[in-house]
Amino acid sequence: MEKSDWQNLGFGYCDTDYNIRCYYRDGAWGELEISSSNIINLHMAATALHYGQEAFEGLKAFKGKDGKTRIFRMKENALRMQSSSDGILMAGFPVEKFMEAVRLVVKMNKRFIPPYESGASLYIRPLLIGTSPEIGVKPASEYLFIVFVMPVGPYFPEGFKPTDLVIMRDYDRTAPLGTGKYKVGGNYAASMNAGKLAKKQGFSAVLYLDSKEKKYIDECGPANFFGIKNNTYITPLSESILPSITNKSLMVLAEEMGLKVEKRKVLYDELPEFEEIGACGTAAVISPIKGIYDVDKDKWFRYGDEPGKWSVKLYNKLRAIQYGDEPDKYHWTDIVE
Ligand code: PLP
Ligand code: COI
Repeated sequence: MEKSDWQNLGFGYCDTDYNIRCYYRDGAWGELEISSSNIINLHMAATALHYGQEAFEGLKAFKGKDGKTRIFRMKENALRMQSSSDGILMAGFPVEKFMEAVRLVVKMNKRFIPPYESGASLYIRPLLIGTSPEIGVKPASEYLFIVFVMPVGPYFPEGFKPTDLVIMRDYDRTAPLGTGKYKVGGNYAASMNAGKLAKKQGFSAVLYLDSKEKKYIDECGPANFFGIKNNTYITPLSESILPSITNKSLMVLAEEMGLKVEKRKVLYDELPEFEEIGACGTAAVISPIKGIYDVDKDKWFRYGDEPGKWSVKLYNKLRAIQYGDEPDKYHWTDIVE
C-alpha cells in the first residue's frame, strides 16, 4: 500500500491473508489452525444464529518507530472474552491460547500492519460462536473461536477532531441487569436503530442514559464515557456498560498526570458542569466531544470546538505507549518480533 493509502484508512472491513481458528468439541478445545479462507461452514441451526451465542473482542497492534510491533493489553481482552462467555453460557476460550492466537494472527499478517508514520493500526477481532445445532433455547455443545485482523484508521471519521453525541430516551441499548457488561452481538444489534438515527442527524454516536431511571450517564454505542471537571477524571460506574480497557488505562494515566480519578454514578444533571467530555475505546481511542444534544428536551450541552487540554494529554500519552514512543512502565504491551 502507498503511504497515502495507509493515512486515509477508515474503520472498515478488508480481507487480509490469514485468520486463526480453534474448535471446541467433546468438551475440549483443539489446536490452533491457520486458515486463508474468509468463509466459515456453519450449521443452519447453530445457536449463534438463532439465540445469539456470540461474543467478540477488539484490540490493536501498533508498529513503532523502532520497527517493533506492540499488541496493547491483550490479556485484558482474553479475560473479558471469558467473562462474556460466562455471561451467555459459552465455552470459555483459555487466556494463554487467546494470546497465542493473537500473536500468531498478527505475525501471519505482518504485511498489513500500518507503518508508524501513518498513525493507523492493525485492528484484531477475536470472535467466539456457538456452532452446534439446537432448536430449544439452550447453550451449544460445540464452539468456534476465530481471530482475524485488518488495518484501520479512526473509528469516527473526524479522528481526534471533536464530534457531537445525542441523547434519545426512546432507545435502550441494554437492560439494567442485562448483558451490557458483556461484549456480545445482541447489544450491538439493539443499538443499530438509534445509531442510524443519530448518524442521519449528524451525530457520531448515541449517549445512553441508564435504562431504568434515565438519570445517570451510561456510555456511548461503541465507547465508554468520561468527563473532566475540577482536575478530576470522572467515569460512570454502571452494571450495564462494557468495562473498557481503554478507559481503565486512561484512569491510570490520568492519575499519573495528577488528576483525581472517580469511577461513580454520573448524573445527567452533571453534564453542564464538565469542562471536557470524551468517548473512549479501542476503535475510538479518545474521541473528544464538542456537544451533546438532548433530543427530548431540545437542549445542547457545549464543550468547545477544540479538544480540551487533558484530553489532548491523555490521548498523546496513550498513543505514545501504544506506539512505543515512551517506556511501557505498566507492561501493557506485548512485542511481536
Ligand atoms: N463500550 C462499548 C459498548 C464498546 O463496544 C467498546 C469497544 O470495545 C468500548 C466501550 C470500549 O472498550 P475498549 O476500550 O476495551 O475497547
Ligand atoms: C472496539 O472498540 O473494539 C469496538 O468493538 C467498538 C465497535 C467497533 C463495536
